[in-house]
Amino acid sequence: EKVGFIFDLDGVIVDTAKYHYLAWRKLANELGFEFTKDQNELFKGVSRKRCLEILLDIGNITATQDQFDKWMVEKNVDYLAYIEKMNSSEILPDVAKVLQYLKNKNIPIALGSASKNARPILEKVDLLPYFDSIVDGNSVTKAKPDPEVFLIAADNLGVAANSCVVFEDAVAGIQAANAANMVSIGIGDTEILNEADYNFNDFTEMSDDFLESLIKKQHK
Ligand code: G6P
Ligand code: MG
Repeated sequence: EKVGFIFDLDGVIVDTAKYHYLAWRKLANELGFEFTKDQNELFKGVSRKRCLEILLDIGNITATQDQFDKWMVEKNVDYLAYIEKMNSSEILPDVAKVLQYLKNKNIPIALGSASKNARPILEKVDLLPYFDSIVDGNSVTKAKPDPEVFLIAADNLGVAANSCVVFEDAVAGIQAANAANMVSIGIGDTEILNEADYNFNDFTEMSDDFLESLIKKQHK
């Protein structure tokens, strides 16, 4: 049975969390309150709409639907200005190496992200050609920790869910992978991502032998 590999985007392939943070902080400041880096942790893996709801809660602000829609657009316009300047130097360490390793072995690769900006970001950093399928915020109806995003990815790759491996930096993402019955690999803080099947601080810690063991593994 063939295996498939699914990568989250923000925090796994590129560190766009810092740009999301700057754009949300600008909006918060305009609305008259502070937004801290710690609070930004809550935004990882969370949809844009849900992020704005949490932000407005933090600022104790009640918005009309029109204001809400306007702020969603405003945040994204600011975020896209950062994305515009991105290039392949912003790919996180050894991500390209792992993608190439899998590509050389003809392993199908998918993106599983909550972001509606996934495609332009992959284009900017020149990684689009590695992906056989891109499942992003435009194609899912249920957000992580719901397994939908990863199940669609497995389906697109033509691989059974329990033969898929997921790389994630968000707790909700690890929970989604586990709910999909996939092998979950936490990238980042081991304490925070303790529900993952395996943990690594980043891809530089992952040996070829480990990747090989994942490829050989038949089922979770
Ligand atoms: C990822 C990020 C979140 C972000 C979400 C939506 O999951 O970790 O912080 O809110 O994508 O991103 P978007 O690009 O659609 O605003
Ligand atoms: Mg992420």
